[in-house]
Amino acid sequence: MSNEANEMFAAISRPNPVETDYEITNIEGEIPRELNGTLYRNGPNQKTAPAAGNRALHFFDGDALINAIRFDDGKASCRGRFAQTESFLREQKEGVYCMGGGNLLADKVLEDPPPGIQPNTNVVSHAGRLFALVENAPPFELDPISLESVGPWRYDDKMLGMATTAHPKIDRKTGQMWIHGYQPIEPYVQLYAVEQDGSVSLAEAIDAPWPSMMHDFAITENYVIFPLGSVYFDIQAIAEGGTFGDALKARPDLNMKFGIRRREAGSEVRWFDAPSSAYMFHPGNAYEEDGKIFMDACTYEDPQRLLDSLGSIRNAVDCDGFIAHPYLYEFDLASGTCKETKLSDISAEFPRIDDRLIGYKNRWGYAATGEPGEDAGSFARRITKYDRQGGPSVDRPIVHGQWVGEPVFVPRCEGAEEDDGFVLNQLFDAVGDRSAIEIHDARAIGAEPLARLWLDERVPVGFHGNWLQAV
Ligand SMILES: [Fe+2]
Repeated sequence: MSNEANEMFAAISRPNPVETDYEITNIEGEIPRELNGTLYRNGPNQKTAPAAGNRALHFFDGDALINAIRFDDGKASCRGRFAQTESFLREQKEGVYCMGGGNLLADKVLEDPPPGIQPNTNVVSHAGRLFALVENAPPFELDPISLESVGPWRYDDKMLGMATTAHPKIDRKTGQMWIHGYQPIEPYVQLYAVEQDGSVSLAEAIDAPWPSMMHDFAITENYVIFPLGSVYFDIQAIAEGGTFGDALKARPDLNMKFGIRRREAGSEVRWFDAPSSAYMFHPGNAYEEDGKIFMDACTYEDPQRLLDSLGSIRNAVDCDGFIAHPYLYEFDLASGTCKETKLSDISAEFPRIDDRLIGYKNRWGYAATGEPGEDAGSFARRITKYDRQGGPSVDRPIVHGQWVGEPVFVPRCEGAEEDDGFVLNQLFDAVGDRSAIEIHDARAIGAEPLARLWLDERVPVGFHGNWLQAV
């Protein structure tokens, strides 16, 4: 990537640690009146800068500043609040960077430090609770309206590991929330099912061949799929005083594996070997068909390059390791084999679908994608809509200086068909140093958005978010 592109890509995560409450008034176009609900977004936004500066932070680091963009009858407002974890409050009290992070050790060593928890990765609602999520801690509950902090939620004390991830999967047919945890000590992986009433109906350890950073997973109607990438999570590096970043090691000698098991309690996991060494953060969706499981994902062919970029993106160095491509994985449950197919040469990340179809056959997918022709643009230049039935993909045009976040699909109304609705994405305009929420007609991604809502305060693009109807 050019120096200019590196600087702009680094700028998408530059902190602006301001809590907000305001009506959004700077609006281009018109907000569709069918949009009635809240888009929650989460991302890192470090409040107390380390002595080495915010540019020394790891890509994953930063206090969680959750934003709620509320839509009601053609109007919109924005509220932003920090997740007030014990470590956040302690760091504010100390007034110095004292919790450490992916790249950095603490500037001040506390005698009695609380666990350093920044639930900055996703924000998900289930069973009437709203959770801010990160993969090294239990879910952190927030009030869905005020965004005031409630505290950690611990799965009815049934947790089998230290944490669960930021990527639960809610099966809209059963109402269950499936979620997994990972850690560098045994059991390396854990699986939970939470019922519609919030009770925990399944909590089981999963035997995995090695500890890895298993950021996300997938479900189908009857199965759970665990992607075990060619990245080794080495606890020894942390025991020797290293950071999380030091502990993640690319292992080209290990091919990626996928653990597949049935959803019923007590089911055995079976490991499928991928044809290549690779890593993925995010599957798009998975479903069953004709004795097979199909799963699409954004796959990093060079995990070492990715790990290097995670550590250096904030410093605008080596940002070009964020190169994942859309892949399709086909698991033959009878023969135990895995086939992989690269679907596009254009990089893609943050794959999303119509969430009502999670685990079931979908046709349309949406992702943040790169520039065509080369890898130079990384993944955050535009939104692309994919047709899993083989039709052409459609892109929001690239605009110089503009970067996009994860696209979130919102159905037009209850019972609307797949793809009949809106795609919301967070935009960062590096030229004007400002942020917006764009509303696209999902069936016209290539056209100008229906509305662009400029926010009063710049918000780092962040990671993930979700729509909650009528909140
Ligand atoms: Fe993620």
